Amino acid sequence: MRHLLDTHTLDRETALRILDVAEDMSDTQSREIKKLPTLRGKTVVNLFFEDSTRTRISFEAAAKRLSADVINFAAKGSSVSKGESLKDTAQTLQAMGADAVVIRHSASGAPRTLATSGWISAGVVNAGDGTHEHPTQALLDAFTIRKRRCGTASRGRDLAGVRVVIVGDVLHSRVARSNVWLLTTLGADVTLVSPPTLVPQNVSQWPVRVLYDLDEALADGPDAVMMLRIQLERMNAAYFPSEREYSRTWGLDAVRAGSLPSDSIVMHPGPMNRGLEISSEAADSPRSTVLEQVTNGVSVRMAVLYMLLAGERDDERGRDL
Ligand code: CP
Repeated sequence: MRHLLDTHTLDRETALRILDVAEDMSDTQSREIKKLPTLRGKTVVNLFFEDSTRTRISFEAAAKRLSADVINFAAKGSSVSKGESLKDTAQTLQAMGADAVVIRHSASGAPRTLATSGWISAGVVNAGDGTHEHPTQALLDAFTIRKRRCGTASRGRDLAGVRVVIVGDVLHSRVARSNVWLLTTLGADVTLVSPPTLVPQNVSQWPVRVLYDLDEALADGPDAVMMLRIQLERMNAAYFPSEREYSRTWGLDAVRAGSLPSDSIVMHPGPMNRGLEISSEAADSPRSTVLEQVTNGVSVRMAVLYMLLAGERDDERGRDL
């Protein structure tokens, strides 16, 4: 694998390979093998132009557990504030020896530009770009769903027949987009539930069912309900009902969570707006996988870095992702 830029173009075989390698990584961590020597001598640069807690720290933890060196770059406090371009910033970090660049950027397409412009030779991982994609979030979500369903027999299994409901601010959500492509590639049935104003215009071209009524979607007894963060920072007032109305109509509270089958899980990529899209009772309930998703994120990111930096490279086989 040369780069990981999206899940839209990620084929089933490669997605399953990432999930299976993540299982191996998870096994080593559960056996309390804190560090593997696999990426000794490699350097991973975390290039974050937007804020992050989970993604940045888990990429750092993943790289360190594989014995790579890590350079953390945050745009705040850097020469970006003096007008330095993405190209010059990336080339500066490459000159310090980056083998892989993990980039989060507010501009959709920035990771692809970095990967295809020829500015740098390092492998590029998209850690979230604008409203476009967040592929490692979708991979850790798929990993979490598969692990809950199949336990120790997960390896090689896809998500055929699994019913996932994704709820909320789909319009602004790169998490929703990456999950739609990945989960359906793996065979899951995906339903989106959203206020009509927060559904993307081209949703009819997506391989999903769209509903506007959360209770109708929950009545089908889905296997997983994924709540999305309301992205108030990207919100136009015209799109959004009041917070009270949103929470009452599209929020997951204890009553709605309690109506699900006993083995259904409640997911959220974080950070959560407690009391808006999800109540504390639902977020902290035994069916919530919020913290499990964070733990699984480290294993999935270890797998991605391993496949980028130590695994077989697709470009050597004439294929690019
Ligand atoms: N889920 C997610 O991307 O969280 P962060 O913004 O904290 O990285």
